[in-house]
Amino acid sequence: MKKIRIAVLCSGGGTNLQALLNAGEAGLIPDGEIVLVVADSPSAHALVRAERQGVKRAVFDKKKLPRAEREEKIAALLKEEGIGLVVLAGFMTVLSASFVRKFPGRIVNIHPALIPSFCGMGMYGLHVHEAVLARGVKVTGATVHYVTEECDGGPIIAQRAVEVREGDTPETLQKRVMREAEWVIFPEAVEQVCKKLKGD
Ligand code: GAR
Repeated sequence: MKKIRIAVLCSGGGTNLQALLNAGEAGLIPDGEIVLVVADSPSAHALVRAERQGVKRAVFDKKKLPRAEREEKIAALLKEEGIGLVVLAGFMTVLSASFVRKFPGRIVNIHPALIPSFCGMGMYGLHVHEAVLARGVKVTGATVHYVTEECDGGPIIAQRAVEVREGDTPETLQKRVMREAEWVIFPEAVEQVCKKLKGD
């Protein structure tokens, strides 16, 4: 059976995209193939990473297109490209319910904390690590989950814990969470979901 065609949606640096591309190249995602990278900003470094790896790119600029129109165009492209799995890798826009309903069970996201802690509206990127440090928890981590209409509320696919250390800044903590958790569990979870989708 054919591999699941994957689109990765990004807004910024794209280190998670890179982890997925590397895993794909290393044969660690045998049931899926990254065929498209979509960014909502033309300056997203993720686009450079996609270009380097020869993956098709598309930009739907947040600053130029209102959300509804942007989502419509993204959904149309995903359908056109025969995408079977949509992967949110640092995509900083919450998708509308109508978008999510177009791809039931076929959208996954990575969140830089242990859901249900430190998630929901306004909890993204460095804000998450700032909140973790402000609360003084000793353990944080990352979560890969299915995307449903509820922000960060879908079923959990994978989680990994990471220690918070004395003297951490949001930046040092973010780096540790990425290195020890996100870049490890994300490719594994994506393969797990592709394998399941192929069997459906
Ligand atoms: C990652 O830490 C990702 O978990 C987080 O943004 C960062 C993107 O980095 N995503 C969210 O906060 C979504 N709520 P990257 O562009 O280098 O992958």
